[in-house]
Amino acid sequence: MKNPFVYGKTVSGEHFCNRDKEVKELVAEIITCQNIIIFSPRRYGKTSLIMRVLKKVKSMGILTFYIDLYPAINKQRFIEIYAGAISSGISGGFKQIAKKIKEYLPRIIPKIVMDDQSVHFEFEFDRAANISPHIDDLLEAVKKIADRQNKSAVVVFDEFQEIANFEDDEIERKMRSVFQNHENVSYVFMGSKTHLMRDIFNNPNRPFYKSGRHFPLQKISGNELAKFSKQKFSAGGINIGKNETENIIAATECHPYYFQMLCNILWETCQEHGRITQDYINEAIDILIARESSIYIAIWESLTGKQKNLLAALVGEEHPEVFGKKFLAKYMLGTSSSIQKAMKNLLEKDLIRQENGSYVVVDLFFKKWIQRTW
Ligand SMILES: Nc1ncnc2c1ncn2[C@@H]1O[C@H](COP(=O)(O)OP(=O)(O)O)[C@@H](O)[C@H]1O
Ligand SMILES: [Mg+2]
Repeated sequence: MKNPFVYGKTVSGEHFCNRDKEVKELVAEIITCQNIIIFSPRRYGKTSLIMRVLKKVKSMGILTFYIDLYPAINKQRFIEIYAGAISSGISGGFKQIAKKIKEYLPRIIPKIVMDDQSVHFEFEFDRAANISPHIDDLLEAVKKIADRQNKSAVVVFDEFQEIANFEDDEIERKMRSVFQNHENVSYVFMGSKTHLMRDIFNNPNRPFYKSGRHFPLQKISGNELAKFSKQKFSAGGINIGKNETENIIAATECHPYYFQMLCNILWETCQEHGRITQDYINEAIDILIARESSIYIAIWESLTGKQKNLLAALVGEEHPEVFGKKFLAKYMLGTSSSIQKAMKNLLEKDLIRQENGSYVVVDLFFKKWIQRTW
């Protein structure tokens, strides 16, 4: 039997746990063509959730377009990626799709590409020429497609915060002014870098200020994770008691990715024993941290000495008074003004967040790794 616990990629079908309430709410918003801003730290399940939602609304006759902006490093790439997503969202054979593209995106040249995985369209345009007309065409395309079919549509921008890295704010400005006239289209903006997302949507000086419903995605409830994992372990002939289930949930704090990863490791190690014990859970936690450590090392190495010291100090205490003399002296952090900058940088990198008047490390296993290593 294949390991039923999947991590590191979008999950669907039997690998997807619950989120019934979120799916229902999002579907309702999309049907009424609202704009939605979904944000959470990475690996909470945004992409998996929206894929499920898109499948559902598609079955209800809504046109769906999904755009992953993670690779959009500049405006040119944005255009290519958006055009690609539009062509994948159009139904029909290649000829029909090509015809429609010509109609909606008259300035861009589609070419058919065949690779190992699929046959699809890619787009080329003269990068040296003025790209603004392309942007204008693109931003209107979905609305036109929907109008023509007398349908409504939804467009999802995943990792939307990447637009903040573009050379200027042309796309951000145009999107806002164009999208607000699209009554039959719901736009969904998703992002993992909470800090950047907040700035895009909460800063009165930016175009997207107050432009949709905010939907902060939480972790999955412990009860649901317990049911989900118990059923999968028993299907594979592995016994797990109530205490052990609770301990796995406690160790991963209901974090969807880490929960799946820990269960995945336990599945591998416990299959021959047919049961899960606390010892196996402890061993699995060690394996998890070892598997993730290259990511943690890369983050750690990108930090300044001050930032490292501050992180090591923060994981040493529960909600410390960080600007207090005692804390600063204990961890040899210098004066309170000298850690301001490091604090700000760590917040901007989403490595720490404010909680109960203090600061905590966002990623729970990165925190464990720091505690063990430094
Ligand atoms: N509803 C879910 N049920 C089970 N596992 C989930 C769920 N959502 C997320 N996960 C786990 O978290 C991982 C990351 O999910 P993903 O959707 O890529 O998150 P994000 O887009 O927020 O970074 C998945 O590979 C899976 O292991
Ligand atoms: Mg994602």
